[in-house]
Amino acid sequence: MRESNRDSFGNSFGVLVALAGSAVGLGNIWRFPYLVGENGGAAFIILYVIFALFLSLPIMFCEFVIGRRSQVNAVSSFSKLHPGGHWNLVGFLGVLSAFVITSFYCVIGGWGVKYFLKALLFEFKADAAIDYSQMFVNTASSVWPPIIYMAIFFLISAAIVSSGVKNGIEKCSKIMMPVLFILMIAIAVCSMLLPGANVGIRYIFRPDFSVVTGKTVIAAMGQAFFSLSLGMGIVLTYASYVKRDENIIRSSLLTISFDTLFALIASCAIMPAVFAFGFEPSAGPGLVFITLPKLFSQMPAGGIAAIVFFFAFLLAAMTSAISLLEVVVAFVVERFNCSRKKAVAVLSIIFLSVASLNSLSQGVLSDIKIFGMNILDFFDYISANFMMTIGAFFIVIFVGWKLGKEAFQDELTNGGSLNIPQKFVDSIFVIIKYIAPLVIFAIVACSL
Ligand code: PHE
Repeated sequence: MRESNRDSFGNSFGVLVALAGSAVGLGNIWRFPYLVGENGGAAFIILYVIFALFLSLPIMFCEFVIGRRSQVNAVSSFSKLHPGGHWNLVGFLGVLSAFVITSFYCVIGGWGVKYFLKALLFEFKADAAIDYSQMFVNTASSVWPPIIYMAIFFLISAAIVSSGVKNGIEKCSKIMMPVLFILMIAIAVCSMLLPGANVGIRYIFRPDFSVVTGKTVIAAMGQAFFSLSLGMGIVLTYASYVKRDENIIRSSLLTISFDTLFALIASCAIMPAVFAFGFEPSAGPGLVFITLPKLFSQMPAGGIAAIVFFFAFLLAAMTSAISLLEVVVAFVVERFNCSRKKAVAVLSIIFLSVASLNSLSQGVLSDIKIFGMNILDFFDYISANFMMTIGAFFIVIFVGWKLGKEAFQDELTNGGSLNIPQKFVDSIFVIIKYIAPLVIFAIVACSL
């Protein structure tokens, strides 16, 4: 293990933008606004914040502690901290989850590239002859174009990862994240100034506790996992590049706050406009690739809004894609002792092949079904519902029962140099050791 010449983040701001870059992604733009509207508005937001603070935060601490203490990739970290046993399988599961998610995330990123180009060519016109649902189906289901756009998205992300942690991931995140934030705020302001926007704002924020059911609670938990990219070694891998004096509590809290704030701003950007123009809100690809283009075609200065939106969409998706890719690259570099560039080059061939299958599953390969789902839907389903949650389950078990409180506290307090109240550490550790495993087990059981 070439620990001494390992790359690392330059400063705390770099760590924060990289973590936030991973967290802020499609989940904030196409999932959160809809989930909030569907599940009782402010009632859902409150639930989400509770889960983010009481479940995601302790899990994030665990990943941070494992990564920074071991200073190696997701797989080796477990065996380094606890030699013997098969704990490195948890790391393998993380690398596998990152692999699976990257392979379909890049296909969606590719659709984003295509729609950004469409926006640049002002193709979203208020023309009754344009069927936006059909336009999306055509985009996703043809053979070569979506593969080529996926490859463009993937290769840009791969080039960033190939340049290293400090010169690639950190440098790009430092530019991309502030730009993304400003663009989203600008869209939100314009959207909320539209006549009739208040219906959308009410849709997001009206607290309606009557629609809160067991399903709502599960949805809030699932979102708190997915949106913060937990359970697959991303935070763990990034933390392995973090200096020993970084404040883990502060970085984690800031990441969670920023991710939640961004999700709320994205909701204010999307829903008021959707309602102002009389559309039905929807989640997932339907929202971004059908409802919004239709909306842009009808709103004043919609052409410009479309360009800005799809550019922001690409930035958000790309900073998440690079974090996924980094988990796999870090493992390959250290496991096979090869250069980063070589690892990225070899992995690119594998990724492009699997991602192409995902892309084709929307068209010519749509008949191939796994448990009744096409390949992309199946990958999406098992990664979000099982791989991430099972990964998180074993991560908390590892820290709670194997690594132990002393090591956990040592990392959290930077070897005792930070003054953290003992009560805080104790309570967090109780969550990690007992509560989090039970809750995560319940989520998996309920989604079966
Ligand atoms: N957190 C990202 C989002 O909100 C999604 C993601 C999940 C990214 C898992 C990486 C890993 O869109």
